[in-house]
Amino acid sequence: MTRHLYVHVPFCAHRCGYCDFVTVTGHEDVRARYVDALVAEVQRAEAAPETIFVGGGTPSILADRDLARLLAALPAAAEVTVECNPETVTPAKARVLVEGGVTRVSLGAQSFRPHLLDVLERRARPEQIRSAVRILREVGIESLNLDLIFGVPGQSGADLRADLAAVAALAPDHVSAYELEAKPGTRFTHRHGRELGRQAEAMEAYYEEVVATLRGAGYRWYETANFCRPGHECRHNLGYWLGHDYLGIGVGAVSTVGLERRRNRPGLRGYLEAVEAGMRPPVDVELLTPDERGTERLMLGLRLDVPLELNGLAVLVDDEACERMAAAGMLVREDGSLALTERGRFLANDVVASVLR
Ligand SMILES: C[S@@+](CC[C@H](N)C(=O)[O-])C[C@H]1O[C@@H](n2cnc3c(N)ncnc32)[C@H](O)[C@@H]1O
Ligand code: SF4
Repeated sequence: MTRHLYVHVPFCAHRCGYCDFVTVTGHEDVRARYVDALVAEVQRAEAAPETIFVGGGTPSILADRDLARLLAALPAAAEVTVECNPETVTPAKARVLVEGGVTRVSLGAQSFRPHLLDVLERRARPEQIRSAVRILREVGIESLNLDLIFGVPGQSGADLRADLAAVAALAPDHVSAYELEAKPGTRFTHRHGRELGRQAEAMEAYYEEVVATLRGAGYRWYETANFCRPGHECRHNLGYWLGHDYLGIGVGAVSTVGLERRRNRPGLRGYLEAVEAGMRPPVDVELLTPDERGTERLMLGLRLDVPLELNGLAVLVDDEACERMAAAGMLVREDGSLALTERGRFLANDVVASVLR
């Protein structure tokens, strides 16, 4: 039985230039139909998960009645997260969330600096982010995450400090702080190429500032890009990082069960037509080898701030590279476990890549 259920809602008001997720703009006329299809898929799955994550896209763009229907169809779970864009959070929507059993909201703030929100093509203004936080707190959402992006074209050190101060003032339970990833060949990269290069040079210092400031504000740096107050880890994402199986429902959603990885195709029409005909959605299936799954497990597990028990994974680790990295103060290997040091965590991608066989 899979312990984690992901539900994808692809609709957005506007496609932000940097975004590479499965999203569609417009399509108001098919949103209710899409929710019907999700409900049918959820019922067919008969899942009994510990955690559910409704992500997007913009799940909170759904009409209140559609969002309520979707939430009512989900199985009970200890943690139910919904991703929301600040400008869509009204008191009525927030009540739908709480009444639908949502325990956690992940709010896409990205920045509190108007010129950076413009570069990112975000709709919400800083005051709308603050208002969304207030509304969600008033209705009693148990756990609130804010997403931040740093390394944005035009961002100065002072901008970053202002963003971190704005986050600290709102005191969310959880913060995800992502380095901006700009895909080569996209409109965004074309437009901001030179400035992206300058940001890349500043990234390491920015990352150190993010970690130091959030830790100073009382957050635990429990994963490469994630920070929480005690007891507010995202259990759903911890499931991914710990290599648990998960089931994905909706257009473009991914499932991993044992060695089978299933990717629902991204086309909305094909998805709707298949589910409405009582069939499984169009899917691409990949069979992973035990080594591939083990390598993923290592790469994800080493992102956490607790040692990774190697057990059967030890054969995937290059012992000599490990010793070199340990001598360089990047990792610690003892009693069959592996953990990155503080310095190693800042260079996690490179350190982990270098110790894999
Ligand atoms: C699935 S996205 C969408 C959530 C929501 N629609 C929004 O935009 O606020 C979840 C988070 O991923 C992060 N993200 C998306 N694209 C990114 C990129 N290219 N680089 C870094 N972070 C990104 C953002 O912080 C975003 O809030
Ligand atoms: S609102 Fe979120 S999911 Fe939609 S395009 Fe923007 S970043 Fe992507």
